[in-house]
Amino acid sequence: MNITICFTGLSPEPWVQSLQQAFAGAVVSAWAPGAPPADHAIVWAPPQQFIDEQPDLQTLFNIGAGVDALLQLRLPPSLKVVRLDDAGMSVQMAEYVCHAVIRHFREFDGYDVDTQAGKWSYRKPRSRADFAVGVMGLGVLGERVAKALQVFEFPVNAYSRSPKHLQGVHSFSGAQALSEFLATSRVLVNLMPLTPETENILNHATLSQLPVGGYVINVARGKHLVEEDLIALIDRGHLAGATLDVFRTEPLPAAHPFWQHPKITVTPHTSARTLREESIAQIVGKIQALGRGEPIQGLVDTVRGY
Ligand code: NAP
Ligand code: GLV
Repeated sequence: MNITICFTGLSPEPWVQSLQQAFAGAVVSAWAPGAPPADHAIVWAPPQQFIDEQPDLQTLFNIGAGVDALLQLRLPPSLKVVRLDDAGMSVQMAEYVCHAVIRHFREFDGYDVDTQAGKWSYRKPRSRADFAVGVMGLGVLGERVAKALQVFEFPVNAYSRSPKHLQGVHSFSGAQALSEFLATSRVLVNLMPLTPETENILNHATLSQLPVGGYVINVARGKHLVEEDLIALIDRGHLAGATLDVFRTEPLPAAHPFWQHPKITVTPHTSARTLREESIAQIVGKIQALGRGEPIQGLVDTVRGY
């Protein structure tokens, strides 16, 4: 069996070595134009040329949870697209979101300013009941985040396409429920996939439905957010601020206003990193299961877009 690896923006070599060690029966190589045909591919944002030159591929294993970059390509209908199914990402996402929520709720940025000025000061404790956190997207990552927030006793709302039942979580589903979800969520955490339906979904019309003092955490994709609408709502005082891990252009351009904005925290798309060894173990297990004719988890519905 031949497995090819094609990444944009990161080196395939450590993956070739680790996968070869983990999967003795396979011939693993990094793709280059003109490479021989392979049976399976491990990819991150491959070019269209890769797909066009690999007509024998049965499966594309994406080394991330979000498959938006793959679904922009022309893919043969028979080609299976498989996402990374947690593989150590959801606990990282839970850490990141809880950290951002707690840092905002407890006003730790304000305490930092005071302590750096040598000032011993107290802020009035805020009421947790006033800080419902709305998790938009209750999938592999969103569910883990919702459960982690409950440990800290924040009220948790969730928004998804289909109805969900998660103990203690107030669930909203479908576009008709979006307004009520937003109006009752003091902190908004975006964990939806990027699809034609969700692109630009965080815009002036939706973000202005958050309560006054609302806070935005975007950890999904930059194209969900209309960046200038967020800045306008923060500068007008409707929103208290934002923590952003993903951007329309990455790396975030040096002149982008997010860098210097006092109420916006920027991180470099690092909230839930792909862990190489965990991911390889998962992909090898799935290739072996497919070889035995067994079903696997993480198959992407390419029409639905996630
Ligand atoms: P997932 O398992 O596919 O779950 C997606 C959730 O979004 C589901 O609950 C789905 O609803 C909901 N959804 C989809 N379209 C919707 C719509 N139009 N309206 C309302 N809800 C909608 O995805 P995941 O694994 O949790 O990952 C979510 C995203 O996080 C990924 O797509 C990726 O872009 C991003 N991500 C970012 C990082 C990072 O480091 N920043 C790391 C990993 C992933 P149903 O349950 O009803 O289907
Ligand atoms: C990262 O952004 C991912 O989709 O896994």
